This record gives sequence, C-alpha cells and structure tokens, in this order.
Amino acid sequence: MRDLESLGDVRGKRVLVRSDLNVPLEGTNITDDGRIRASVPTIRTLADRGARVVVTSHLGRPKGEPDPAYSLEPVARRLGDLLGADVAFATDTVGESATETVAALDDGQVAVLENVRFNAGETSSQDEIRGAFASELAKLADAFVSDGFGVVHRKQASVYDIALQLPSAMGGLVEGELDVLRRLTHEPERPYVVVLGGSKVSDKLGVIDNLLSKADTLLIGGGMVFTFLKAQGHEVGGSLLEDDQVETCRDYLARAEESGVEIVLPTDIVVDTAFPSGDREPQPRVVAADGIPSDSLGLDIGPDSAAAFADAVRGGRTVFWNGPMGVFETDAFADGTRAVAQALTEVDGLSVVGGGDSAAAVRTLGFDEAAFGHISTGGGASLEYLEGKELPGIAVLSR
Ligand code: 3PG
Ligand code: MG
Repeated sequence: MRDLESLGDVRGKRVLVRSDLNVPLEGTNITDDGRIRASVPTIRTLADRGARVVVTSHLGRPKGEPDPAYSLEPVARRLGDLLGADVAFATDTVGESATETVAALDDGQVAVLENVRFNAGETSSQDEIRGAFASELAKLADAFVSDGFGVVHRKQASVYDIALQLPSAMGGLVEGELDVLRRLTHEPERPYVVVLGGSKVSDKLGVIDNLLSKADTLLIGGGMVFTFLKAQGHEVGGSLLEDDQVETCRDYLARAEESGVEIVLPTDIVVDTAFPSGDREPQPRVVAADGIPSDSLGLDIGPDSAAAFADAVRGGRTVFWNGPMGVFETDAFADGTRAVAQALTEVDGLSVVGGGDSAAAVRTLGFDEAAFGHISTGGGASLEYLEGKELPGIAVLSR
C-alpha cells in the first residue's frame, strides 16, 4: 500500500488529509482529545515538508446538513494548540469558505474544513451521489492522505470515493494501526487473550465468531454479558439484555467448548436498583452472577471477577481489549474496567486497547498511555479488521 513517500515532493501541493477528529464534546468543551493528538504527526510531517494541508473530518452523526452542535471549530482550535501553529478554519466543507480558505494557504500552513457530514453526499448509500461530493472535495486538493483510522470501515465519500479521484496514500497513523492489528491476526504470540465489553453483544457478533477459532481465552464483561448469562439460564433482573441474541450466545458457548477456547464470564456482578443518574447517590451491591435480584440491574463485573479477569489478562502474551466492563463513568461502577486496564499495563507481551470507549476509559481513569503496547484510535474499525472484514478505506488505497 502507498505511504506518504509515494506522493513524492509535496512542497506547494494542496494535500487533503482525512483525519478522524471525532472526539467527545460537552458543549464546545473537548473531554478527550486523544484522537486529535494522534492526528498531529501526519499533519505536522506534511506541513514540515511544505505541503498546504487541508484537513477534513466528521464529528458525531449530524443528518447531512449543518448543525452547530457538531461544528469542528473547537477541534480546529485544539489542533492549532497542539501543532503550535495557526490553523485556518473553513465554515463549510466544499463551499465558498472552503475554497477561499484553501486558496489563502501558504506552503506549510494548515486548514480544517467544517464537518464533512454536514453534506448529505458524504454518507449517501448511492455511489454516484458520494462520487459527486467527492469530486467537490477533490477540487480543493492535489493529493489525498487517508489517516482517519477510526473511520476506514466506512464506505464514505471522504474516506473511499475521494481516493478514486486523487493520487492517494495512507498516513502514518493508519500505517501504525495496521502494523499492530496484523500482529494480532498473523500468528499472535500465545496465550492470546481477548477482553470484550461494551453494551451490545449485537455489535460484537462478527468478532466473537472469528475469535472462537483464533483466541485462547475470551473474557466477556460489560452490558453484553447479561445476554450470555441469560443464555446460561440465569435471570438478569433489569440488566441490559438482547433477547434476540440469547440463542446466538448459547451457540457461542457451545462452540467455544468444542474448539477448546475458554470463554470466561463474570461470577459476580455489581448491581444497583437504578442506572446511575446525577440526582441519586449510587447504592452498589455485589451479588452472584447467577443471583441478580429481579429489582436490580448489573452495572459492573464484581471484585472476584475483576481479579480473575486481571489474572487472565496478565497471563496473556498477546492481549486485545475492546469495551468497558461496566459504567466506568460513575466511580462506583468503574472498578472492573480499572482492573482490566491495570492488568493490560502489566502484560509481558503485546497489549492493545481497541479504540472508542475503552481508549477514552483508559485516559479518563488516569492511566499513563505509554504503559500500553498500543491504544487504537478506532473501535469499530479495529473490530471489523479482527473480524476479517475488508475495510473500504484501506482496500481503496491499493487500487
Ligand atoms: C467512531 O467514533 O467510531 C468513528 O469516528 C466513526 O464514527 P461513526 O461510527 O459515526 O462512523
Ligand atoms: Mg462508533
């Protein structure tokens, strides 16, 4: 696949960089800037080489038209702080402001375009509509660099179609992510331990399916665990449950047994009688996983399970983790996630935190990022890679 060097001398060229600057915001306050920091090296490299760098990204899921709540302006400001340089901001993506902003760039300067998903063409399911929007974007640049790893699993105009229209290369962030993921899928050092959490089992079916023939141990926590507990015949009270997946989970448990993969479920659960909310003090209680009271719901794995999960993680030589073990945003339900994160920092081998919520959890809980082998910027993208799916934003770069 083509890397930055393949673009040759970029001095004076307009280079459109697709980054994933989709960060969590409270109002205009960025609560975790991990993805912006991760995007800096490629942007800086291109600027240092004298390119006129035009950054495009989405933020959230606006409905194909401008929505001030999803403006990239605060993100552009933060990018400028991190680069230690002025970053111009266009108030549209391909309109007058974008055209003027890009035209005003000098060699080595950086501009950010407004949220690419303010344009219906970006996410259209119709090739022609996406293609037409991609040509608008292409007018702003002489070359394209794909560096938004978190979004390469999306067949969208600024990720996929644009690469059909401009000389294209992958950026260093994508390159680094792929290097690590390859180490997980090609002869991983064993034991290979995978920890899966997060709320919905339906988001993880493909990856579980695939890992049943690859991993040695699969630890399951988070909201998705209750569908597994139900599959084992336990009542789960008011916990998150996907009734239509109970059968699938039962099948996974049976297949794991046949294939010698160990699926580990929690034996104890931290419950409360209500989901945490601002105006109520949490009342956490530890119960057996097969004894969740009907008036309660599970919000974290319990202390015995946390210790057992941590042991299993520490015993791995290759460990991948995606999805928090509980509602870690509330301190009373953060211990399971904290224990797993801590154990990942102690792995003698390769430890990988799969993007999205788990990456944010690691940072919110105050862990030193350097203690992990790799923290991915892509949750969905890394899961789809592990599933063995083709990622459109990657595949298109080798065409
Ligand atoms: C993410 O946060 O998962 C990526 O930025 C992709 O966003 P999306 O799921 O809205 O496509
Ligand atoms: Mg997502």
